[in-house]
Amino acid sequence: MSNRFATPLDRARERYTSKRPRSREIFERAALVMPGGSTRSVLDFAPFPFRIASATGSHIVDVDGHEYVDFLGDYSAGLLGHDPGPVEAAVIATLGRGWSFGGVHTDEVRFAEAVVDRFPSIEQVRFTNSGTEANLMAIQLARHHTGRDRIVVCDAAYHGGLLYFGHGGEALLAPFEFDRMRFNDLHDVGHVVDRATAAVLVEPMMGSAGCIPATSEFLSALRARCDEVGALLIFDEVMTSRMAAGGVQARLGITPDLTTLGKYLAGGMTFGAFGGRADVMAAFDPARGGDLTHGGTFNNNVVTMAAGATALGELLTADVLDALFVTGDSVMSRLTAVFEASPLPLCVSGMGSLMTIHTVTGPVTSPADLATADPVLKELLFHELVDRGIYLAPRGYMALSTAITDDDCDRLVSAVADSLRMIAS
Ligand SMILES: Cc1ncc(COP(=O)(O)O)c(C=O)c1O
Repeated sequence: MSNRFATPLDRARERYTSKRPRSREIFERAALVMPGGSTRSVLDFAPFPFRIASATGSHIVDVDGHEYVDFLGDYSAGLLGHDPGPVEAAVIATLGRGWSFGGVHTDEVRFAEAVVDRFPSIEQVRFTNSGTEANLMAIQLARHHTGRDRIVVCDAAYHGGLLYFGHGGEALLAPFEFDRMRFNDLHDVGHVVDRATAAVLVEPMMGSAGCIPATSEFLSALRARCDEVGALLIFDEVMTSRMAAGGVQARLGITPDLTTLGKYLAGGMTFGAFGGRADVMAAFDPARGGDLTHGGTFNNNVVTMAAGATALGELLTADVLDALFVTGDSVMSRLTAVFEASPLPLCVSGMGSLMTIHTVTGPVTSPADLATADPVLKELLFHELVDRGIYLAPRGYMALSTAITDDDCDRLVSAVADSLRMIAS
């Protein structure tokens, strides 16, 4: 109920709540059986997340009947939009042949061949069920390979549910010996990475921390420093591999020793992978003296393998990924123009189709640049955009899919401009 002391944010939340009785009711049921009412914390937002009923193309519909243009793209797992026909056909055909084989099959080979074909660093690959698991496996593999324990990561990085190096991540951190460096900081490359380092784990663009691209100087310096001290360089390309057929490593011509993958690459199915130099991956090959085992009931899940082989083999061509990159860059330029014309402190950072709107004037080149971000403005903008039928992450993050049309982009840009006029007034 509105009262005269309500803040703009209170009013935005009230408006949101009053339009979504069904989502609220289901949220209250959910909260009785799942802590926080969900099973994936990033999906929570105040006062409660709307509940999705269905999705097609670039659009989703909630249980209260509201339609949104989906600029979130399942936090980058939904690169192909909501109904990529060939993936659907591959999954249906696969299920017709049975599942839960408990044995090896052909699609996992097709998928592995497609992965090895395109990523310069990946000579051999292993599949997992998530990006988190891929990073945990890559860390253990690097420790095993080097006989060292220490892993260098960047402050504020997110590499999975048990590998979060930002505020609040400590309690659930996997118990490795981590050393932290500042992102894009050449001084730290020389001082934090040393002869005790087993591996450096880094994203070519920090995704969750705010879509902050690494400079090529930073990544090149890491490559050189790892070679100098005998550490492995691991690129977490769970998000960034979409930037080109061979990921950011191919765009920049910097080849890590190991790469981790996840998200969209299996056409939206549950997926993760780690791969790299054949001599390092040999640790899993008994024929080459390898003494590591890699378990995982669903590692070669038939649905994921078929969807992945189809997505990589047929849909995620270099042309498609390059075109999506260009679309993303153009959206960022248009948003930048809107922000520059607004009196509010806003900017956008990112690369290609992954971007984040920040409530600072920018530029944003490291997580430290976000120290003065305004959380109230961020939430207000989020609610204004949701009210105008635009779905993005509450933190301002967007991951464009190939289903996004020019009209959708026009709608986003005008919704942002309109929201800012409303908030400023
Ligand atoms: C860069 C990066 N690495 C790893 C992960 C973890 O992947 P998953 O959610 O599949 O465990 C994520 C997820 O957001 C990510 O963005």
